[in-house]
Amino acid sequence: MVGEPAKPAGEERSMSIAQKYGPWAVIAGASEGTGAAFARLLAAEGVPSVLIARREAPLAALADGIRADTGVECVTAAVDLTAPDALDRIIAAVGDREVGLFVANAGADDNGAYFLDAGIAAWTGQIQRNVMIMTQASYHFGSAMRERGKGGLLLVNSGACYGGSSHMAVYTATKAFMLCFAEGLWAELRDKGVDVLTLVLGRTDTAAFRKLLAEKGQPVPEGIATAEAVAEAGLARLPHGPIHNFGSPDDAGGFGYASPDDRRQRVLAIEAASRAVFGK
Ligand SMILES: NC(=O)c1ccc[n+]([C@@H]2O[C@H](COP(=O)([O-])OP(=O)(O)OC[C@H]3O[C@@H](n4cnc5c(N)ncnc54)[C@H](OP(=O)(O)O)[C@@H]3O)[C@@H](O)[C@H]2O)c1
Repeated sequence: MVGEPAKPAGEERSMSIAQKYGPWAVIAGASEGTGAAFARLLAAEGVPSVLIARREAPLAALADGIRADTGVECVTAAVDLTAPDALDRIIAAVGDREVGLFVANAGADDNGAYFLDAGIAAWTGQIQRNVMIMTQASYHFGSAMRERGKGGLLLVNSGACYGGSSHMAVYTATKAFMLCFAEGLWAELRDKGVDVLTLVLGRTDTAAFRKLLAEKGQPVPEGIATAEAVAEAGLARLPHGPIHNFGSPDDAGGFGYASPDDRRQRVLAIEAASRAVFGK
Protein backbone atom coordinates (compact mmCIF):
# COMPACT_ATOMS: atom_id res chain seq x y z
CA MET A 1 0.00 0.00 0.00
CA VAL A 2 1.26 3.51 -0.76
CA GLY A 3 2.45 5.38 2.29
CA GLU A 4 3.31 2.39 4.45
CA PRO A 5 5.69 3.34 7.25
CA ALA A 6 9.44 3.15 7.01
CA LYS A 7 9.78 1.05 10.16
CA PRO A 8 10.49 -2.68 9.72
CA ALA A 9 7.32 -4.76 9.49
CA GLY A 10 8.91 -7.61 11.46
CA GLU A 11 9.36 -5.34 14.46
CA GLU A 12 5.63 -4.52 14.46
CA ARG A 13 4.53 -8.10 14.09
CA SER A 14 6.78 -9.24 16.90
CA MET A 15 5.17 -6.87 19.42
CA SER A 16 1.70 -7.55 20.77
CA ILE A 17 -0.82 -4.75 21.30
CA ALA A 18 -0.13 -5.03 25.03
CA GLN A 19 3.63 -4.72 24.55
CA LYS A 20 3.31 -1.82 22.15
CA TYR A 21 0.43 0.14 23.68
CA GLY A 22 0.20 -1.15 27.26
CA PRO A 23 0.25 -1.32 30.13
CA TRP A 24 -2.69 1.17 30.29
CA ALA A 25 -4.83 2.99 27.76
CA VAL A 26 -6.78 6.19 28.39
CA ILE A 27 -9.97 6.59 26.35
CA ALA A 28 -11.57 10.03 26.32
CA GLY A 29 -15.22 9.40 25.42
CA ALA A 30 -15.57 5.76 26.43
CA SER A 31 -19.08 5.25 27.72
CA GLU A 32 -20.61 4.02 24.45
CA GLY A 33 -20.08 3.61 20.71
CA THR A 34 -16.58 3.58 19.28
CA GLY A 35 -14.96 4.50 22.61
CA ALA A 36 -16.54 1.51 24.37
CA ALA A 37 -15.59 -0.71 21.41
CA PHE A 38 -11.95 0.38 21.76
CA ALA A 39 -12.07 -0.46 25.48
CA ARG A 40 -13.47 -3.96 24.86
CA LEU A 41 -10.99 -4.66 22.08
CA LEU A 42 -8.04 -3.50 24.17
CA ALA A 43 -9.17 -5.53 27.17
CA ALA A 44 -9.36 -8.62 24.97
CA GLU A 45 -5.67 -7.93 24.22
CA GLY A 46 -4.94 -7.65 27.94
CA VAL A 47 -4.81 -3.84 28.07
CA PRO A 48 -6.97 -2.17 30.74
CA SER A 49 -8.26 1.35 30.14
CA VAL A 50 -9.00 4.45 32.13
CA LEU A 51 -12.52 5.10 30.86
CA ILE A 52 -13.51 8.77 30.65
CA ALA A 53 -16.95 10.26 29.85
CA ARG A 54 -19.53 12.47 31.54
CA ARG A 55 -21.93 9.73 32.69
CA GLU A 56 -20.66 7.46 35.44
CA ALA A 57 -23.39 4.79 35.14
CA PRO A 58 -22.62 3.59 31.57
CA LEU A 59 -18.89 3.75 32.34
CA ALA A 60 -19.37 1.51 35.39
CA ALA A 61 -21.54 -0.89 33.37
CA LEU A 62 -18.87 -1.08 30.67
CA ALA A 63 -16.13 -1.73 33.24
CA ASP A 64 -18.27 -4.47 34.85
CA GLY A 65 -18.89 -6.08 31.45
CA ILE A 66 -15.20 -5.99 30.55
CA ARG A 67 -14.26 -7.53 33.91
CA ALA A 68 -16.84 -10.30 33.44
CA ASP A 69 -15.74 -11.04 29.87
CA THR A 70 -11.96 -10.74 30.15
CA GLY A 71 -10.98 -10.45 33.82
CA VAL A 72 -9.37 -7.09 32.99
CA GLU A 73 -9.98 -4.32 35.55
CA CYS A 74 -10.70 -0.90 34.07
CA VAL A 75 -10.90 2.40 35.93
CA THR A 76 -13.71 4.90 35.38
CA ALA A 77 -13.78 8.68 35.77
CA ALA A 78 -16.74 10.97 35.14
CA VAL A 79 -15.17 14.06 33.54
CA ASP A 80 -16.75 16.70 31.31
CA LEU A 81 -14.18 17.33 28.59
CA THR A 82 -15.64 20.77 27.90
CA ALA A 83 -14.49 21.92 31.35
CA PRO A 84 -11.23 23.88 31.48
CA ASP A 85 -9.85 21.61 34.25
CA ALA A 86 -10.61 18.38 32.37
CA LEU A 87 -6.96 17.45 31.83
CA ASP A 88 -6.18 17.82 35.56
CA ARG A 89 -9.09 15.52 36.34
CA ILE A 90 -7.92 12.95 33.78
CA ILE A 91 -4.40 13.05 35.22
CA ALA A 92 -5.81 12.57 38.73
CA ALA A 93 -7.84 9.56 37.55
CA VAL A 94 -4.80 8.02 35.84
CA GLY A 95 -2.65 8.39 38.96
CA ASP A 96 0.72 6.65 38.63
CA ARG A 97 -0.43 4.23 35.92
CA GLU A 98 1.83 4.10 32.87
CA VAL A 99 -0.16 5.09 29.79
CA GLY A 100 0.89 3.58 26.45
CA LEU A 101 -2.15 4.60 24.42
CA PHE A 102 -4.32 7.69 24.40
CA VAL A 103 -7.53 7.55 22.38
CA ALA A 104 -9.25 10.89 21.74
CA ASN A 105 -12.70 9.59 20.85
CA ALA A 106 -15.28 12.07 22.21
CA GLY A 107 -15.96 14.69 19.61
CA ALA A 108 -19.31 14.54 17.85
CA ASP A 109 -21.45 17.58 17.15
CA ASP A 110 -24.80 17.21 18.88
CA ASN A 111 -26.11 20.61 17.73
CA GLY A 112 -26.69 20.25 13.99
CA ALA A 113 -27.37 23.97 13.88
CA TYR A 114 -26.22 27.07 12.05
CA PHE A 115 -23.38 28.81 13.91
CA LEU A 116 -25.43 31.89 14.79
CA ASP A 117 -28.51 29.89 15.80
CA ALA A 118 -27.00 28.14 18.85
CA GLY A 119 -25.52 29.76 21.94
CA ILE A 120 -21.82 30.51 21.73
CA ALA A 121 -21.17 28.16 24.67
CA ALA A 122 -22.21 25.21 22.50
CA TRP A 123 -19.33 26.04 20.15
CA THR A 124 -16.66 27.06 22.64
CA GLY A 125 -17.34 23.84 24.58
CA GLN A 126 -16.79 21.85 21.40
CA ILE A 127 -13.49 23.66 20.76
CA GLN A 128 -12.44 23.02 24.36
CA ARG A 129 -13.19 19.28 24.05
CA ASN A 130 -12.05 18.63 20.48
CA VAL A 131 -9.06 20.95 20.29
CA MET A 132 -7.80 22.09 23.70
CA ILE A 133 -8.17 18.92 25.74
CA MET A 134 -7.14 16.68 22.83
CA THR A 135 -3.99 18.79 22.39
CA GLN A 136 -3.20 18.98 26.11
CA ALA A 137 -3.70 15.25 26.62
CA SER A 138 -1.59 14.40 23.55
CA TYR A 139 1.18 16.59 24.97
CA HIS A 140 0.94 15.09 28.44
CA PHE A 141 0.75 11.43 27.46
CA GLY A 142 2.88 11.84 24.32
CA SER A 143 5.79 13.28 26.35
CA ALA A 144 6.01 10.18 28.53
CA MET A 145 5.62 7.92 25.48
CA ARG A 146 8.48 9.63 23.67
CA GLU A 147 10.65 9.23 26.76
CA ARG A 148 9.86 5.51 26.92
CA GLY A 149 10.25 5.10 23.16
CA LYS A 150 6.86 3.50 22.63
CA GLY A 151 3.16 4.18 22.63
CA GLY A 152 0.30 5.44 20.50
CA LEU A 153 -1.95 8.47 20.03
CA LEU A 154 -5.18 7.58 18.25
CA LEU A 155 -7.30 10.59 17.34
CA VAL A 156 -10.81 9.75 16.14
CA ASN A 157 -11.79 12.03 13.30
CA SER A 158 -14.53 12.57 10.74
CA GLY A 159 -14.73 13.07 7.00
CA ALA A 160 -15.80 16.55 8.12
CA CYS A 161 -12.08 17.28 8.58
CA TYR A 162 -11.64 17.69 4.84
CA GLY A 163 -13.63 20.90 4.51
CA GLY A 164 -16.13 23.27 6.09
CA SER A 165 -19.85 22.52 6.11
CA SER A 166 -22.99 24.38 6.97
CA HIS A 167 -24.66 23.21 10.22
CA MET A 168 -21.20 22.08 11.37
CA ALA A 169 -18.92 25.09 10.97
CA VAL A 170 -17.19 24.66 14.33
CA TYR A 171 -17.21 20.86 14.23
CA THR A 172 -15.54 20.73 10.80
CA ALA A 173 -12.99 23.30 11.94
CA THR A 174 -12.06 21.28 15.04
CA LYS A 175 -11.71 18.14 12.95
CA ALA A 176 -9.51 19.95 10.42
CA PHE A 177 -7.30 20.98 13.35
CA MET A 178 -7.08 17.32 14.39
CA LEU A 179 -6.10 16.28 10.85
CA CYS A 180 -3.20 18.73 10.59
CA PHE A 181 -2.17 18.13 14.20
CA ALA A 182 -1.99 14.37 13.63
CA GLU A 183 0.04 14.77 10.45
CA GLY A 184 2.57 17.01 12.17
CA LEU A 185 2.84 14.85 15.29
CA TRP A 186 3.23 11.70 13.21
CA ALA A 187 6.16 13.25 11.37
CA GLU A 188 7.79 14.27 14.65
CA LEU A 189 7.28 10.99 16.51
CA ARG A 190 7.56 8.34 13.80
CA ASP A 191 11.21 7.58 14.57
CA LYS A 192 10.64 7.78 18.35
CA GLY A 193 8.55 4.61 18.61
CA VAL A 194 5.30 6.52 19.11
CA ASP A 195 2.54 5.83 16.59
CA VAL A 196 0.13 8.63 15.68
CA LEU A 197 -3.03 8.06 13.68
CA THR A 198 -6.12 10.08 12.96
CA LEU A 199 -8.89 7.65 12.10
CA VAL A 200 -11.34 9.34 9.75
CA LEU A 201 -14.87 8.00 10.07
CA GLY A 202 -17.94 8.24 7.92
CA ARG A 203 -21.41 7.57 9.32
CA THR A 204 -21.06 5.12 12.19
CA ASP A 205 -23.71 3.39 14.25
CA THR A 206 -23.27 4.99 17.68
CA ALA A 207 -25.80 6.00 20.31
CA ALA A 208 -24.90 9.67 19.80
CA PHE A 209 -25.51 9.48 16.05
CA ARG A 210 -28.81 7.64 16.55
CA LYS A 211 -29.93 10.31 19.04
CA LEU A 212 -29.13 13.11 16.59
CA LEU A 213 -31.00 11.33 13.78
CA ALA A 214 -34.01 10.74 16.04
CA GLU A 215 -34.08 14.42 17.05
CA LYS A 216 -34.13 15.38 13.36
CA GLY A 217 -36.77 12.74 12.53
CA GLN A 218 -34.35 10.85 10.30
CA PRO A 219 -34.06 7.05 9.99
CA VAL A 220 -30.80 5.24 10.74
CA PRO A 221 -29.17 4.71 7.32
CA GLU A 222 -28.63 1.13 6.27
CA GLY A 223 -25.18 -0.37 5.99
CA ILE A 224 -23.34 2.19 8.11
CA ALA A 225 -20.14 1.20 9.94
CA THR A 226 -20.34 -0.56 13.28
CA ALA A 227 -18.43 0.73 16.28
CA GLU A 228 -16.62 -2.60 16.56
CA ALA A 229 -15.39 -2.53 12.94
CA VAL A 230 -14.17 1.03 13.39
CA ALA A 231 -12.27 0.19 16.58
CA GLU A 232 -10.65 -2.84 14.96
CA ALA A 233 -9.53 -0.76 11.99
CA GLY A 234 -8.20 1.95 14.30
CA LEU A 235 -5.95 -0.41 16.25
CA ALA A 236 -4.86 -2.24 13.10
CA ARG A 237 -3.93 0.97 11.28
CA LEU A 238 -2.37 2.75 14.27
CA PRO A 239 1.19 1.83 13.20
CA HIS A 240 0.49 3.17 9.70
CA GLY A 241 -0.34 6.84 10.29
CA PRO A 242 -0.87 9.62 9.97
CA ILE A 243 -4.33 9.12 8.40
CA HIS A 244 -6.70 6.26 7.77
CA ASN A 245 -10.03 6.86 6.05
CA PHE A 246 -12.21 4.06 7.44
CA GLY A 247 -13.33 1.73 4.67
CA SER A 248 -10.83 2.99 2.08
CA PRO A 249 -7.39 1.76 1.15
CA ASP A 250 -4.66 4.26 1.95
CA ASP A 251 -3.83 4.84 -1.69
CA ALA A 252 -7.41 5.90 -2.56
CA GLY A 253 -8.06 9.62 -2.99
CA GLY A 254 -11.44 11.24 -3.30
CA PHE A 255 -11.32 13.85 -0.56
CA GLY A 256 -9.06 16.41 -2.22
CA TYR A 257 -10.50 19.79 -3.20
CA ALA A 258 -7.66 22.02 -4.19
CA SER A 259 -8.94 25.15 -5.90
CA PRO A 260 -11.23 27.78 -4.33
CA ASP A 261 -13.76 27.04 -7.09
CA ASP A 262 -13.75 23.34 -6.26
CA ARG A 263 -14.09 24.05 -2.55
CA ARG A 264 -16.99 26.46 -3.16
CA GLN A 265 -18.84 23.81 -5.16
CA ARG A 266 -18.13 21.20 -2.49
CA VAL A 267 -19.43 23.33 0.37
CA LEU A 268 -22.60 24.19 -1.58
CA ALA A 269 -23.22 20.52 -2.34
CA ILE A 270 -22.85 19.66 1.35
CA GLU A 271 -25.09 22.59 2.27
CA ALA A 272 -27.83 21.12 0.07
CA ALA A 273 -27.38 17.64 1.56
CA SER A 274 -27.32 19.03 5.12
CA ARG A 275 -30.53 20.99 4.58
CA ALA A 276 -32.23 17.74 3.64
CA VAL A 277 -31.21 16.25 7.01
CA PHE A 278 -31.26 19.22 9.37
CA GLY A 279 -33.89 21.40 7.72
CA LYS A 280 -33.60 25.17 7.28
N1 LIG B 1 -21.16 8.42 14.74
C1 LIG B 1 -20.81 8.91 13.55
O1 LIG B 1 -21.56 8.77 12.55
C2 LIG B 1 -19.49 9.58 13.36
C3 LIG B 1 -19.13 10.02 12.07
C4 LIG B 1 -17.90 10.64 11.89
C5 LIG B 1 -17.05 10.81 12.97
N2 LIG B 1 -17.43 10.39 14.22
C6 LIG B 1 -16.50 10.62 15.33
O2 LIG B 1 -16.48 9.49 16.17
C7 LIG B 1 -16.28 9.89 17.53
C8 LIG B 1 -17.36 9.26 18.40
O3 LIG B 1 -18.61 9.77 18.00
P1 LIG B 1 -20.00 9.33 18.65
O4 LIG B 1 -20.99 9.30 17.55
O5 LIG B 1 -19.85 8.12 19.48
O6 LIG B 1 -20.39 10.59 19.56
P2 LIG B 1 -19.73 11.36 20.82
O7 LIG B 1 -20.67 12.39 21.26
O8 LIG B 1 -18.38 11.81 20.42
O9 LIG B 1 -19.70 10.29 21.99
C9 LIG B 1 -18.66 9.44 22.19
C10 LIG B 1 -18.35 9.35 23.66
O10 LIG B 1 -17.87 10.60 24.09
C11 LIG B 1 -18.47 10.95 25.34
N3 LIG B 1 -18.54 12.40 25.40
C12 LIG B 1 -19.18 13.24 24.54
N4 LIG B 1 -19.04 14.50 24.97
C13 LIG B 1 -18.29 14.45 26.09
C14 LIG B 1 -17.83 15.43 27.01
N5 LIG B 1 -18.13 16.74 26.88
N6 LIG B 1 -17.07 15.05 28.06
C15 LIG B 1 -16.78 13.74 28.24
N7 LIG B 1 -17.20 12.77 27.41
C16 LIG B 1 -17.95 13.13 26.35
C17 LIG B 1 -19.82 10.24 25.34
O11 LIG B 1 -20.26 9.87 26.64
P3 LIG B 1 -21.07 10.80 27.67
O12 LIG B 1 -22.30 11.23 26.96
O13 LIG B 1 -21.31 9.88 28.82
O14 LIG B 1 -20.18 11.92 28.04
C18 LIG B 1 -19.49 8.96 24.58
O15 LIG B 1 -19.00 7.99 25.46
C19 LIG B 1 -16.30 11.42 17.53
O16 LIG B 1 -14.99 11.92 17.54
C20 LIG B 1 -16.97 11.78 16.21
O17 LIG B 1 -16.57 13.02 15.72
C21 LIG B 1 -18.62 9.79 14.44
